[in-house]
Amino acid sequence: MNISVVGTGYVGLVSGACLASKGHETICIDVDKAKVEQINSGVAPIYEEGLPEILSETIGKKLRADTNLREAILNTELSLIAVGTPYKGDQIDLSYVRQAAAEIGRVLADKDSYHVVVVKSTVVPGTTEDVVLPILEETSGKKAGQHFGVGMNPEFLREGCAVADFLNPDRIVLGGIDERTLGVMKKLYQAFPDTDIVTTNPKTAEMIKYTANGLLATMISFSNEIANLSAKLGGIDVTEVMRGVHLDKRLSPILDNGCRIIPGLTQYLAAGCGFGGSCFPKDVRALIAHGKKYEEPMSLLEAVVKINAQQPNRMLELLRKHFRELRGLKVSVLGLAFKPGTNDIRESPAIPILHQLQKEGAVLTAFDPVAEHEMRHLFNDSAVRYTRSLDKAVEGADAVLLITNWPEFSELPRLLASNTVLIDGRRAISKDAVPRYEGIGLS
Ligand code: UGA
Repeated sequence: MNISVVGTGYVGLVSGACLASKGHETICIDVDKAKVEQINSGVAPIYEEGLPEILSETIGKKLRADTNLREAILNTELSLIAVGTPYKGDQIDLSYVRQAAAEIGRVLADKDSYHVVVVKSTVVPGTTEDVVLPILEETSGKKAGQHFGVGMNPEFLREGCAVADFLNPDRIVLGGIDERTLGVMKKLYQAFPDTDIVTTNPKTAEMIKYTANGLLATMISFSNEIANLSAKLGGIDVTEVMRGVHLDKRLSPILDNGCRIIPGLTQYLAAGCGFGGSCFPKDVRALIAHGKKYEEPMSLLEAVVKINAQQPNRMLELLRKHFRELRGLKVSVLGLAFKPGTNDIRESPAIPILHQLQKEGAVLTAFDPVAEHEMRHLFNDSAVRYTRSLDKAVEGADAVLLITNWPEFSELPRLLASNTVLIDGRRAISKDAVPRYEGIGLS
């Protein structure tokens, strides 16, 4: 199939490269000329495992990037809209989606053959049919369902393993306005014959995406609320509580041979210093705002956001248990990315923690295996001393705060001086492995 992808952010580029690797002739469109050139030279503009390899395998063969949207739409059968939907004010900002739809529509006005436009960006329920479809009709002067199809195909990629997630999908959700649209969308995924497909309308497809992220975020805040009470009560370690909960056979089923399946879902029932990233915080807030618009209060999700906003502060409370005065205290913050495997720092708990420590006059050192460059935009060298290695980061520290669960931090017990306090925001280190240990969900 000949396809085009509008937007080369992490969703657009990963989707485009992976679909090209599955045999589709793919054009990725972006307004940013430098980015387009970079992609065409086979260089990934973002840090994402497996992306450089899949780019070099496909670029110049099945995949190319371009700034020319018109030519791409005229020469392809299906377009994915994969532009950003940032959260602005109290709702998601659809301006990039609107703009992409209008540009595609203007080309459809001059296109004779049938074309399918699929929204891949995360948009609140109703957007594809109530916003994108009317723009396409207005700018093309044509009729949806007759001259062109409109669909919604949410992505379920996790940053850091987006390529692997795309190539080994757990589900494919296709929302189409009619059977013809759905038929073309199915062709897009014909290389995944064994994957479960949910075929539905666009609004339900949009809702599936928000519900999936809302559930995972809820599980995290639930675990954090339990962790905070466990710590307050004393004598309870939340990791033992959660192990007892995870062993429920409905959460980790026992097979006939006696072995257990440990589903990835249980990872979200782990206490920590809070979730971040470009998805959970934005998506939960967007659904709350959407509920408000339709006079349906989303009380549970409001609590999820509230608990999450408090969680970084728990790290500082643990620090204050040992040091009444933070001014002049040498504090090392380990892990700036919102999670391991990415250089993305959006909504990372490290940000409010560094801000507060800075405000209180702590002497700050930070280390992240990949996200240092991104963090320097927020905290420059005069605010934070960045180190290139873990051992340099913890040398001479009064306290070390572990924020991101990077595998290399398992070296900490060997590296920490006996008087350094470790505050473990991910319960990544065994509490008995260092002399002065504090962790979320432990008193
Ligand atoms: C999430 C979803 O997992 C994907 O399915 C979805 O496609 C994606 O959002 C999206 O909407 O694009 P992602 O944001 O990449 O993916 O990250 P996750 O690995 O799910 O982690 C999200 C946050 O939760 C991280 O800050 C992580 O540290 C935190 N987390 C995760 C916890 O605090 N506790 C846990 O037990 C698990």
